[in-house]
Amino acid sequence: MSKVSIIGAGYVGSTIAHWAMVSGGCQVVLVDIVEGLAKGKILDLIQAGPIAGHSVDAIGSSNYNDTANSDLVIITAGVPRKPGMTREDLVQVNADIIKSVINEVVPRSPNAILLMMTNPLDTMTYLAYKLSGFPRERVIGQAGVLDSGRMRTFIAIETGIDPENIHTTVLGGHGDEMVPLVRYSHIAGMPLSYFLSQEQIDRIIARTRDGGAEIVRYLKTGSAFYAPGASACKMAQAIIKNQHHIYPASVYLQGEYGMEDICFGVPVMLGRTGVERIIELELNDEEKAAMQRSADLIRSTMAHLKLDR
Ligand code: APR
Repeated sequence: MSKVSIIGAGYVGSTIAHWAMVSGGCQVVLVDIVEGLAKGKILDLIQAGPIAGHSVDAIGSSNYNDTANSDLVIITAGVPRKPGMTREDLVQVNADIIKSVINEVVPRSPNAILLMMTNPLDTMTYLAYKLSGFPRERVIGQAGVLDSGRMRTFIAIETGIDPENIHTTVLGGHGDEMVPLVRYSHIAGMPLSYFLSQEQIDRIIARTRDGGAEIVRYLKTGSAFYAPGASACKMAQAIIKNQHHIYPASVYLQGEYGMEDICFGVPVMLGRTGVERIIELELNDEEKAAMQRSADLIRSTMAHLKLDR
């Protein structure tokens, strides 16, 4: 039985705990720095178990010792975006939180895979990679599953076609310069242009880019959590069940896509050892330029990072 620890019992963390217990097949440990928060949420969730028919194998805690020897640690600790705030504005405050989380988690679970959720995502994944000392295969950021899922949703709304038939590829940074690749997206194997006009495709891309911010504008005091939680669970399942599934994810690049020393969203194959393979797509000049703009935005955010422990 795999042990999956989730750090941060706020909206994203507790939603992941819920999805993970519904999926089953792992022991869940939910940790929050706020005394009682994770304990209370897990107590509620395990009481839902007999009613809803899901796993009750979970504990809530404010003590990192309970995370010892985790196979997978999903890190959601941090402050969410407020209206008008970009993910990049979050960098200072969340970097300090991630530093303290890494210092607690890594010595207790030296063989774990880290799945990062905290924004700004690519920068926090980079920070976790650098501070953990883990090989790059074991430090992964969730963004592309969510962004691709949002694009699938908007295509389904626009066309009325079952989202199961819709496959989208959104690469690059998890920010305003994410890179939806129309050429690598399809509906039941057919190009998007078979079903959608260029104007519709442009509108879908714009709404995908704005997907997180649109929700923040409605919520006012927080950011999305159901779809991010579901995305993390898909990736967690691929890892703990050794599924060899290909997802877009933020990983540390060493020359792939002509980029180095950056965590960036690219297609990867996930399995029990983490990133089993990085897939390099052939890109045209326009797509390469979009990837470059996205990388430039991440680098401007990373410029605010201090890498000392
Ligand atoms: N250790 C453990 N938990 C911590 C720590 C820490 N050092 N620091 C903060 N936390 C906890 C907070 O107490 C809070 O319960 O992290 C939790 C964050 O929860 P929310 O404020 O509800 O934020 P949430 O919506 O879950 O978003 C978390 O995920 O998608 C991203 O942008 C989002 O960066 C944000 C993160």
